[in-house]
Amino acid sequence: MAFGLQIAAPLLPPGLLPHRMTTRQTIPKLLVTGAAGLLGRHVVAACRTTDRVIGLTRRDLDISDAAAVAACLHHYRPEVIINCAAMTNVDACETDRAGAFRHNADGPRHLAEVAHKLGAYLIHISTDYVFDGTQSTPYQTTDPPNPISVYGAAKLAGERAVRDVSPTFAVVRVAGLFGRGGKNFASVIGTLLTRPGVVKGITDNRILPSYAADVAMYIRCLVDARAGGLFHAVSAGEPCSWYAFAALAREQLGPRVQAQLIGVTEAELHRPAKRPMSCVLAHSADPARGLPPLRDWREALAESLRSESLS
Ligand SMILES: NC(=O)c1ccc[n+]([C@@H]2O[C@H](COP(=O)([O-])OP(=O)(O)OC[C@H]3O[C@@H](n4cnc5c(N)ncnc54)[C@H](OP(=O)(O)O)[C@@H]3O)[C@@H](O)[C@H]2O)c1
Repeated sequence: MAFGLQIAAPLLPPGLLPHRMTTRQTIPKLLVTGAAGLLGRHVVAACRTTDRVIGLTRRDLDISDAAAVAACLHHYRPEVIINCAAMTNVDACETDRAGAFRHNADGPRHLAEVAHKLGAYLIHISTDYVFDGTQSTPYQTTDPPNPISVYGAAKLAGERAVRDVSPTFAVVRVAGLFGRGGKNFASVIGTLLTRPGVVKGITDNRILPSYAADVAMYIRCLVDARAGGLFHAVSAGEPCSWYAFAALAREQLGPRVQAQLIGVTEAELHRPAKRPMSCVLAHSADPARGLPPLRDWREALAESLRSESLS
């Protein structure tokens, strides 16, 4: 079986390698699934200077295909697998329950089972949507999940499948992921605001978003820590609504803004899937294990807009 292959092998002189790595043989071999997605692209970029990275897009490897997963992982024999692949269209999941579970629950289970056989470390990405969003205080990793959408239920099943295979694997929940190359509201806000039109921002949700570039660095720290369990990776700062997020983008973009930003409630959008309305995750910083806090989302938003040459 042939696989599409994009390896970014670092050719740094030994002096520039991180402290534990001195030869090419000791450079970790990382395999990233969903490598064409928002987070996948940032993870590949964050790891390629220190690791041998194999970035696989959906065309290279469909993680819902158990036989393909087994063949691919046996072929590459990575030491670390980072699963960024997922069906992320929350409303599409609501109307395609089978698809949602195939990609978001069966896929991670296939990866976990083969990773376990190969002795590889798996980092699987999950979501704040495993919670119901009724809690007024930040959700800790110890809080019980209670998904209110098919997407959330499927992602929770994926988390459990991974953790059932091995407690040494890591599940990293992120929320409102944004950054260059993304397709969701928070990622395209700069483009939306700098074109003529009306942009609707939700006023009645509460979230601490996750900046993809910073989550990717956090994940790289986990690779070194080889820590197992549940982790929350969200930016620092005060929680916001999507309207407040968009309003700050408007301020940061200044005179380039052409669109009118208006506030709407979630109910006014009549979307098929329910969203958790107050869903702030407590970030899992652990300096003892080398797991850092992430920077403030306001600073990250400015960088994200700059990277798109929009500010
Ligand atoms: N975006 C958010 O706001 C958000 C919030 C919380 C958590 N998350 C989680 O963060 C992770 C990364 O999300 P993202 O925003 O980077 O998503 P994304 O941009 O939609 O990327 C996901 C990638 O996975 C691919 N994919 C889908 N099904 C696949 C399969 N069966 N096998 C292989 N690849 C497959 C997609 O390909 P196609 O494009 O061809 O479908 C896409 O390239 C996901 O686990 C997601 O659930 C995201």
